[in-house]
Amino acid sequence: MCGIIGYIGKKNAIQILINGLHREIYRGYDSSGIVVFGKNEPICIKAVGKIENLEKKLNSQSIEGNLGLGHCRWATHGEVTEANAHPHFDCQKNIFLVHNGIIENYKELKKKLEKEGHQFNSDTDTEVLTHLVEKYFQGNLEEAVRKALREVRGTYGIAVISKKDPQKIVAAKLSSPLILGINKDEFLIASDPSAIITHTRQVINLDDNEIAVLKPDNFFILREKPLTQIEWTPGDEKKGGYPHFMLKEIMEEPEAIENAIKGRLMIEEGSVKLGGFDEIQERLRKINKLILVACGTASYSARIGKYMLEEYAGIPTEVDVGSEFRYRKPIVDKNTAVIFISQSGETADTLASLQEMKKKEILTLGVTNVVGSTQARETNAGVYTRSGSEIAVASSKAFIGQLATLAMLTVYLGRQRDMALIMGKRIVSELSGLPDIAKEVLKSASEIKELAEKYKDFKNFWFIGRKYNSPIASEGALKLKELSYLHAEGIGGGELKHGHLALIDESFPTIAICPSDSVYEKMVSNIEEIKARKGPVIALATKNNKEIKNLVDDVIYIPKTLEMLTPILATIPLHLFSYYMAVLLKNDVDKPRNLAKSVTVE
Ligand code: G6P
Repeated sequence: MCGIIGYIGKKNAIQILINGLHREIYRGYDSSGIVVFGKNEPICIKAVGKIENLEKKLNSQSIEGNLGLGHCRWATHGEVTEANAHPHFDCQKNIFLVHNGIIENYKELKKKLEKEGHQFNSDTDTEVLTHLVEKYFQGNLEEAVRKALREVRGTYGIAVISKKDPQKIVAAKLSSPLILGINKDEFLIASDPSAIITHTRQVINLDDNEIAVLKPDNFFILREKPLTQIEWTPGDEKKGGYPHFMLKEIMEEPEAIENAIKGRLMIEEGSVKLGGFDEIQERLRKINKLILVACGTASYSARIGKYMLEEYAGIPTEVDVGSEFRYRKPIVDKNTAVIFISQSGETADTLASLQEMKKKEILTLGVTNVVGSTQARETNAGVYTRSGSEIAVASSKAFIGQLATLAMLTVYLGRQRDMALIMGKRIVSELSGLPDIAKEVLKSASEIKELAEKYKDFKNFWFIGRKYNSPIASEGALKLKELSYLHAEGIGGGELKHGHLALIDESFPTIAICPSDSVYEKMVSNIEEIKARKGPVIALATKNNKEIKNLVDDVIYIPKTLEMLTPILATIPLHLFSYYMAVLLKNDVDKPRNLAKSVTVE
């Protein structure tokens, strides 16, 4: 959601900025722009729609300059227009600024600035910052930025350049990610490591309230920061022969399990090793209440985590979405731990919830995919899911990585308590074989594609499941909505009769997740209820279940595994189904309309 890239060095900035933008657009965008300081005047070009539109405009002129900023915008304040696209500039076209985040008090600031004579060109909250910097500018850009930011409420990652204080980029952040890339004779600034990884792996994560000043030959920030080594390779962002990142990432789901468990399972001890928890082991033993907080797809892994943690670790567990939790008054004490689950580690509502818990000095833990993300840095301890970079907007393999990680966390906490060695061994050894079992599921891709062909003209879908697979019904429905734009709802099978059955008829198919587990018979009753009302049913059942064939219209089979791990296997066909539906409906499957990968605003 909004991407920033900045370059200062000896090379021509244009191509570096464009390449950086291409690597950031997966975050979600609807317009883009760049500013480059050429030999004489700053050149600022913006375009609505795809980056290619911006490139076309750039190609029609010859622009050279060693300093510039780029931005891709995902509209929050003001429509998708060129005027609202970044970079924004001040009245004198001296200051150019790009921003990720939201300035909450922009209306009052704008009023004040207009009274003082500033003229605005856009409807955005961001432009206020540009004029504020102008107001305080007296020849030193960082000084003006520092003063301007004092007046601002909200969140920001910004990069600013000025014609009258040239040869520098000033960058600052508060609750929006911003990293500096350090290279010989050049510096970059970006909201995402993927935008700079082809230039350098030496990065500094800017912290909240820090201001960085990048010059052609040196840089400084308020505090010294440790260098972080990025662990993934540029190849991660290539489609690897698949038509879409979405399909590539679904196909990598077995690998996501493998990466999550690699080196962590201790089969003989019936336990797991989570290095990130070493230092807080003793504190974890005393925890008697857990709260799992997440957003979107990650919140469904939290719901599954609750089933696992209560059944096998015996710890009372609550689940909430970040957008609700941050405004609640949860009952917590020194024996509560709050676990934040996020692929990006940058989701605004999850991070705000984390800050609330930090204020109360509650133990905060993270289950995060992106290394060095705000969540990873701000939590007391955590586990990386190691799912690799996820580019498609809708989360897929990262969700699988979260489920595998939560299963390990359950064993870790369970074995600290009453979980028997034999039970620990059972879960751990089943987890160790799960990547291969998951690969089996992928073999049914062509059957699932055929099913999508059969069902592509239906406009509404139910997804039902119970116990561990009730959240998977929600995930199946969300993924279908996100990718295919069809109406889908996911509920616990037992809830059907409380109102929802009223919608069932021949035109409203149901996908019933009914593996052979402790609630299988209950699911069969739910399927009967649907069939009695002529609703078409696709069942997701355990291999060798022949009975189910006589009851439903279509069956997708998954292999047998432990009940607590079935959500991992059940997810794969549902992700594939949504993917194929979206492709058949000719949707932009990697970048669904109106959505963003990393929701860094409230
Ligand atoms: C956005 C993405 C979803 C993701 C959610 C939470 O809505 O489009 O795919 O599940 O954010 O993101 P997180 O990075 O916190 O897991």
